Amino acid sequence: MADIDVNIDPVQHNRDAWDRLVEQGDEWTLPVTSEVIARARAGDWSVVLIGHEPVARDWFPAALAGIDVLALASGGGQQAPVLAAAGARVTVFDNSPRQLARDREVAERDGLELATVLGDMRDLSVFADGSFDLVFHPVSNLFCPDLEPVWRECFRVLRPGGTLLTGFMNPDLFVFDRDAEGNRGELMVRHALPYSDLTHLSEEERVRLGGPGGALEYSHSMTAQVGGQMAAGFHLVGFVEAPHHAGVTSQYMPGYFATRAVKP
Ligand SMILES: C[S@@+](CC[C@H](N)C(=O)[O-])C[C@H]1O[C@@H](n2cnc3c(N)ncnc32)[C@H](O)[C@@H]1O
Repeated sequence: MADIDVNIDPVQHNRDAWDRLVEQGDEWTLPVTSEVIARARAGDWSVVLIGHEPVARDWFPAALAGIDVLALASGGGQQAPVLAAAGARVTVFDNSPRQLARDREVAERDGLELATVLGDMRDLSVFADGSFDLVFHPVSNLFCPDLEPVWRECFRVLRPGGTLLTGFMNPDLFVFDRDAEGNRGELMVRHALPYSDLTHLSEEERVRLGGPGGALEYSHSMTAQVGGQMAAGFHLVGFVEAPHHAGVTSQYMPGYFATRAVKP
């Protein structure tokens, strides 16, 4: 176990990391094309919540026209503009100014209405209670130290009957040694869960083996993910899994899970 640098602020640290990832053209920062938006306007659309798997259409409300959607930690000009082109009133909330700029690029390029808000997913106080019909929250909570405030805030900003769609990492992926996996394609068990780059890697390793762009990652438990949503008041009504979009583990186990939850 390495020394913990208590001076690292995960929000600022991961903001810088994701801004860097935009510069580097990481896959999750590349905006959709005008063709994708044109098709979405014509009613032909899909978005991803986990990996490269399109979300089942029946996970969404029957009609998107006029519903209020919060795309939570979902910057990058990917899902939010598609949902807006399909008719929803969309607000993108993300911790990276550059990720949000991607969404504005698409909105300006293709003439879409889209609001963007910068912030930490644990604090949605900028939104009044009951502001949204749908919260769309793709894989991103691995960059957040604690989930309890996230579920509480999602519950608060949804209207009764509203839906929360969440993608998250299979925490078991974090047990493996990243050196062995990245360099030799071997899966070697190294870390006890719950894992975080801050507590399980040395400073040198964190720079070399940490999350994308140097982002800090946290494994979280299934209790924190699924139990946490239930504890916040949600009813879980859907669950699917998918392989990780890259890497060795995808041959052996699911890399991602997704939940569909409803506020009663
Ligand atoms: C893998 S990307 C997800 C968005 C992407 N469009 C997708 O399809 O998955 C992770 C996103 O989470 C955002 N993020 C990381 N930490 C955050 C936090 N504490 N609050 C809000 N957003 C955060 C990042 O800026 C980044 O845009």
